[in-house]
Amino acid sequence: MAEGLSEGFSFSQFKVFRDEGKLSPEYVPSSLPHREAQLKELSSFFRVFLEAPGSFFVKVWLVGGVGTGKTATSKRLGYLLEREARRRGVDVRYVHVNCYKDRTFFVVAKRIAQRVLPSIPERGFSAQELLEMAWKALEDQDAYLVAALDEVDYMVKAVGEAPLYALSRVSDERLNVPQRLGLMLISRSHPSTYGLSESVSSSSAHNLVRFEPYTSSQLLDILEDRVPEAFVEGAVTKEALSLIADLAGVDGHGSGDARYALELLWRAGRLAEARRLRRIDPELVREVYAQTHPLLSREDLYQLTRHELLLLLSVARVLRRTCKAYSTTGEVEREYVDVCRAYSEAARRHTQVWLMIRRLKEAGYLHTKVTGGAGGRTTLIGLIDVQASLLEQRVEEVLKTGKGR
Ligand SMILES: Nc1ncnc2c1ncn2[C@@H]1O[C@H](COP(=O)(O)OP(=O)(O)OP(=O)(O)O)[C@@H](O)[C@H]1O
Ligand SMILES: [Mg+2]
Repeated sequence: MAEGLSEGFSFSQFKVFRDEGKLSPEYVPSSLPHREAQLKELSSFFRVFLEAPGSFFVKVWLVGGVGTGKTATSKRLGYLLEREARRRGVDVRYVHVNCYKDRTFFVVAKRIAQRVLPSIPERGFSAQELLEMAWKALEDQDAYLVAALDEVDYMVKAVGEAPLYALSRVSDERLNVPQRLGLMLISRSHPSTYGLSESVSSSSAHNLVRFEPYTSSQLLDILEDRVPEAFVEGAVTKEALSLIADLAGVDGHGSGDARYALELLWRAGRLAEARRLRRIDPELVREVYAQTHPLLSREDLYQLTRHELLLLLSVARVLRRTCKAYSTTGEVEREYVDVCRAYSEAARRHTQVWLMIRRLKEAGYLHTKVTGGAGGRTTLIGLIDVQASLLEQRVEEVLKTGKGR
């Protein structure tokens, strides 16, 4: 049928996505190519929960770089373990806690406790008490819990090793009762690099599962697996996929990050639909590649609080409008007040804005510079290696989804 000529003309003709959600960072596919070995290793550690539940304490580290499948593999293991346990009539539950978002011991303990006692009161208990209640409930319900502490290095940096100590000890202390808790500790860097004491890290080759960066050909398998779920047939050319795999592969131009590869594919799909193209070809991939920057990644922006996003948006807008390299804190704050109004949020006060600026700086989003002499010192805020208009657009995208904590 000739385009646009028939009565039944519809924009859906230009759809390339079948389901773009299948490319989102949170989606865990049912098969994880090139992670079979890790999944197998993990199953062998956690098999005890099925075969002799409670007989010993299991703690495993999952270590590997950005986008190497640690989160996806641990969630998959959790799902498989729960399913197999149900089949065998054992009550094993899995809980996934993101310690980047939930950096305090209290929130981590609350998430763990909620998996066992869904209606646990929010207030009035300490982290330690929440854990005690959770253990008691596990005993009462004759249940077992595997907790994955994802990005655990952030929590350790923020509050030290006390939570890990408490979590390990709570089981260790109860010598003659079943061990009802298992831990998966997930981190980008090896536990020995962030100064944990031996009793807490107790990592050795025997309980550490490594996730190596993906090569281009591995990424190609991962992408090829995902394409039929996410795209209509014929929407992605083979050359486009190979180019993405080469751009992201560790033996190509990238770091071996699958999230980045999937994001390139998703952005190419978005652009194709916006331009009403039916196919994603290499030229489109080159175009989205030229616009990507690690700081603009969706998932990382999702980790910011709503007000951090509003503030970042304000910085981007001021810099784009003024065409300057740096703006003053005053300019940014005025913009922030306007932005908050537009998003119907109550603007935070000056000191809180300051803290947010500091956090955004630590996270690598903003650069700051102090100018002027004694008495008249001001802090200037800038973006160095990312285009203001692009950042603005990406932050707006994230705010629109209602995300941002
Ligand atoms: N082997 C794989 N097969 C299919 N998809 C994968 C595979 N590995 C990773 N992915 C996908 O890539 C994205 C990133 O993976 P994941 O979030 O598990 O990485 P990570 O190691 O936890 O990274 P980070 O350290 O940044 O948290 C996810 O969308 C995930 O579904
Ligand atoms: Mg992860």
